[in-house]
Amino acid sequence: MSLLSHLSSIAGEAFTELGLPAELGETVPSQRPELAQYQVNGAMAAGKATNQAPREIAQKVADRLAGHPDIENVEVAGPGFINITITDASIARIAAEDAADPYLGFPVTSDPENVVVDYAGPNVAKAMHVGHLRATIIGDSLARLFSFAGHKVIRDPHFGDWGFQMGLLIAAIAEEQPELAYFDPDAGTYPSESPVTLDDLQRIYPEASVRARSDDDFADIARQATVRLQQGDPGYLALWRHMKSVSEESQRQDFATLGVNFDLWYGESDVHDRLGPLVATLRESGVAEESKGAIVIRIGEDGDNRDIPPLILESSSGGFLYSTTDLATIQMRMEELRADLVLYVVDRRQADHFLQIFRAAAKAGIIPDGTRLEHIWFGTMNGPDGKPFKTREGGVVRLSDVIEMLTEAARRRLDEAHLAEDYPEAERSSIASIVGVAALKFGDLINNRTSDYVLDLDRFTSFEGKTGPYLQYAAVRIKSILRRAESEGVEQGPLLAPTVDAERELMLELLRLPDVVGRAIALRAPNHVAEFAYDVAGRFNRFYDTCHILSEPDLARRGSWLTLAAWALAALERLLDLLGIEVPDRM
Ligand code: ARG
Repeated sequence: MSLLSHLSSIAGEAFTELGLPAELGETVPSQRPELAQYQVNGAMAAGKATNQAPREIAQKVADRLAGHPDIENVEVAGPGFINITITDASIARIAAEDAADPYLGFPVTSDPENVVVDYAGPNVAKAMHVGHLRATIIGDSLARLFSFAGHKVIRDPHFGDWGFQMGLLIAAIAEEQPELAYFDPDAGTYPSESPVTLDDLQRIYPEASVRARSDDDFADIARQATVRLQQGDPGYLALWRHMKSVSEESQRQDFATLGVNFDLWYGESDVHDRLGPLVATLRESGVAEESKGAIVIRIGEDGDNRDIPPLILESSSGGFLYSTTDLATIQMRMEELRADLVLYVVDRRQADHFLQIFRAAAKAGIIPDGTRLEHIWFGTMNGPDGKPFKTREGGVVRLSDVIEMLTEAARRRLDEAHLAEDYPEAERSSIASIVGVAALKFGDLINNRTSDYVLDLDRFTSFEGKTGPYLQYAAVRIKSILRRAESEGVEQGPLLAPTVDAERELMLELLRLPDVVGRAIALRAPNHVAEFAYDVAGRFNRFYDTCHILSEPDLARRGSWLTLAAWALAALERLLDLLGIEVPDRM
């Protein structure tokens, strides 16, 4: 159960008895922990609304609360704060409930929604780079959070495989290797081996993309190639399939290293059959119109404080674009996936794109009432110079290189700290990789998602401070305490009312879990989970410093402490899992 909602309802009742709204009883952790554990601020609002003295209302509420068996002490302070401390017995009672619950007290939803998380966003011909990293890490954590809350989550990377970039690639390959069967209208059959590797594609694509900007003839050829592909030219399609699969193969490897999975692997091309009919319907209904040879939807609204350009559905050469496939994907997600909520975890620079497609979707009437589309944007990951993370030569950094860098740094850290020292080599490498990935993910998720941050290898991989490795180590330490207890035959027992400060504080901390997770979901903000995991680890360390579990002579107390340690571990592992971070068994 959520302790805060329990207290809120007790306080809410006191307000209703005074003829005031129950919401005023909302209880929050105290801002002055030295005075009380919790506080209720509703008396101030009540005072304003009813023209009474807030302190008097607060006193009346406090008098009613004073009789409640869960409340140890209640006081009115300042302009009308109600400060509450609860009894140790009630802490133990609720703690026992939460500790035994597989959801650790989190109220799983009784009204599950279909939540599509559109994240990572890899593209054909581009190995994933750091730009995809935040989308992947944040999206994965949000998917885990919604799924934990009981929703049906559908993870879809929205693979970029159908726009102008495909035409650019085909045009460039045709120019380099015109003899290939894909360009021979009479070929009929095509080789099963790909004519290009991912390295080829990674060289060809940027060149072609730069060239198209100044070379109009080449750009034209590429546009025609896009249209021909989209119209189903068999040779182009055969080449396109090869390009898709070499790209996908490398991306799947990166995702596997990061421990990220998708439920669907749909791409832009999967809605291809919808594009023509969608554009035709929108033209008929007048939602779309012709403009300079292209088909567009005007989406500017009264009250816009700047010009918002129309969304282009079909270019003047007859090709469909990124926006067209995105709009058709919304339609598909509504009709086939019955989405109630779609989270687009995509870079801030695409804000206008999403504004356009959301408005266009509303105008086109393809989002049912109650369905929400949200652009979950994020800031940039920067290098030590404070500019977007680049290679020394100024190029884009491959995601696999970043992962490699972190794994190596993690390995050095493990050596320095003499951790995992005498383990078999295979286990050491696996630990280094798990720790490196944790360093990267936590270093990202601890930031408010809308801020930029600096990828700082040293700081991220440190075993001290707010880092993934520190938290993994904290969890591993509890695991080893539990193992030692087991080998010494020490058994867990019922949670007793706390008597020591460090013990009480750890329990109160763990009791916050349901609210913290709820807030992270409501705000689409995994950083709340990351901060909280750090607090839990800190509280546990203080508890363990003060309360020597294994040498405690009072056996009931010892059993209770061991249960508390197991609960702390369950919470820590769950929180890390919500961030996509694994905990090794030992290190
Ligand atoms: N592939 C795109 C890119 O690299 C991101 C896709 C985001 N999702 C979407 N539905 N548009 O920019």
